[in-house]
Formats: sequence, C-alpha cells, structure tokens
Amino acid sequence: MSNDLYERAVAISTRAYAPYSKYLVGAAVRTRDGKIFEGVNVENAAYPLGVCAEKSAIVEAVGDGYRPGDLAAIGITASPCGGCRQWLYEFRIDEVTFLSSTGELVTYSAAELLPDTWDLPA
Ligand code: THU
Repeated sequence: MSNDLYERAVAISTRAYAPYSKYLVGAAVRTRDGKIFEGVNVENAAYPLGVCAEKSAIVEAVGDGYRPGDLAAIGITASPCGGCRQWLYEFRIDEVTFLSSTGELVTYSAAELLPDTWDLPA
C-alpha cells in the first residue's frame, strides 16, 4: 500500500490543467530504484486530446530511461480509466493505489485491474 505516493499525487493534483471537466487528477509513480515522477491531467479544447495524470507521470519516467518492469508503484487521486489501466499493465506496475468509490485507499496490481487481457507474442 503506497499511502506516500497517494499523498504526493494529491499534492501535485493542484497543478492539473482541467478547465473543461474541472476534475483535477494527480499521479506519482515510484521506480524500483527509488525515484519518483509526478503527473497531472492536461485537457484540451479538442476534448479527446486530453492526457490523463497517470499517463503523464509514466511518460516522465520513460523520458528518464525507465521501462516496463522498472516501475514499482503508483498513487493516483482517481480510479484509473480503462485506457490508463492498459498503460499500467504495459509497464507491469505491481502496486496501483487510489481512492475507491467507497472512499477507502485500495491497492491492486495492474494485472488485477485488467484481467484476462492479451500479450502480444514475442
Ligand atoms: N482522468 C485522469 O487523469 N485519470 C484517470 O484515470 C481518470 C480520468 C482525467 C481525464 C480528464 O481530464 C478528467 O480526469 C475527467 O475525466
């Protein structure tokens, strides 16, 4: 359970750019070697072009050289959307912590959040 990452996500969520939905989301991802990358949702007047918070956090980590298997845990201020569950699965994140609809902090693996998905043959 990554309460610390969830707290980091809450803090960074104030920097979200969400003038259309007004739904501010933050995310903080921790690498296996202990670095933390943060992200926020960034919306656009062309609505489908908006980016989710967890995607922007993962993009930051990838830009610093991290790859699937290198990211240990992520805290998000929202339950991850379907598309972001696919991203979390791609990066094999073991601990995904967010506030559930009942208001409690919950942690699942990315695989639990996207059961019975496919893997491309190597
Ligand atoms: N959002 C995220 O950033 N992450 C999620 O997993 C849920 C949704 C954002 C996208 C959009 O900017 C706003 O929340 C409303 O859907």
